Amino acid sequence: MANNLLKGKRGIIFGALNEQSIAWKVAERAHEEGAVFVLTNAPIAMRMGEINHLAEKTGSQIIPADATSVEDLDNLISQAMEILGGKLDFILHSIGMSPNVRKGKHYTENDYRFYNQTMDVSAISLHKTLATAHKLDALNEWGSVVALTYIAAQRIFPDYNDMADAKSLLESITRSFGYHYGIKKKVRVNTISQSPTVTTAGQGIKGFTEFINFSEQMSPLGNASAVACADYCISMFSDLTRYVTMQNLFHDGGFSNTGVTQQVIDKFGE
Ligand SMILES: NC(=O)c1ccc[n+]([C@@H]2O[C@H](COP(=O)([O-])OP(=O)(O)OC[C@H]3O[C@@H](n4cnc5c(N)ncnc54)[C@H](O)[C@@H]3O)[C@@H](O)[C@H]2O)c1
Repeated sequence: MANNLLKGKRGIIFGALNEQSIAWKVAERAHEEGAVFVLTNAPIAMRMGEINHLAEKTGSQIIPADATSVEDLDNLISQAMEILGGKLDFILHSIGMSPNVRKGKHYTENDYRFYNQTMDVSAISLHKTLATAHKLDALNEWGSVVALTYIAAQRIFPDYNDMADAKSLLESITRSFGYHYGIKKKVRVNTISQSPTVTTAGQGIKGFTEFINFSEQMSPLGNASAVACADYCISMFSDLTRYVTMQNLFHDGGFSNTGVTQQVIDKFGE
């Protein structure tokens, strides 16, 4: 259902790797809602080539950028303004990667070079993106930046490993930069804390299938899908949410406020 919610708005969407990616769904929905945008991902992710289909479908250009490189981000944001013909209204940060998770390292035995990479890719990249946009004065007043996060920032989910620490930092950067950017340019910065979702990044977490089933039964509305998450992102980019900033917004079917459900209790009687 399209309502022209983003008509006339320009943006950058980070993190569409394949059709399962949350960013992919956001790009499809943003296109339906009338936005124009540039797609970006790490140069290495371009090799898979799937993003070309999304670019074609949404009439977008692709600019490769490693989100940990300020030089790449500077080039990306400058070029995006040129291509789209003006300052930007929204940015989606949909980026996550932990070498410790990938290599199966236990949290208590994390490799610190990997740990730094996790922080840089999954959290500090948001600071770098915001700082570059701020320096280039690239975002219009009431512009909206959304980054995706997970409730492991607040509570322990053992197999989420150092990504939990990265998400805590991501949410803190959101508050801190949101304050400064709000005061200076009326730009909004928020995180959306999404249910576990079947994607490449999601499936990298150990025991993901069991976990997604557990989460489904612990959420009164069930797990939120990637498409539903995209809808929420669209509302956050729209003018209908202008006074929402510096927030961590749960999009999780009620999981975050549920102690236990009858369905889960019943399992212990079996
Ligand atoms: N899938 C879930 O269960 C879930 C739940 C809550 C939050 N999230 C978050 O949603 C976001 C998107 O993940 P997803 O589930 O769509 O998976 P995904 O694997 O499709 O997306 C992750 C993206 O990060 C990109 N990336 C990695 N390193 C990068 C770098 N150096 N520079 C630029 N981009 C880089 C990848 O290429 C990929 O496109 C992540 O922040 C993730 O933590 C996911």
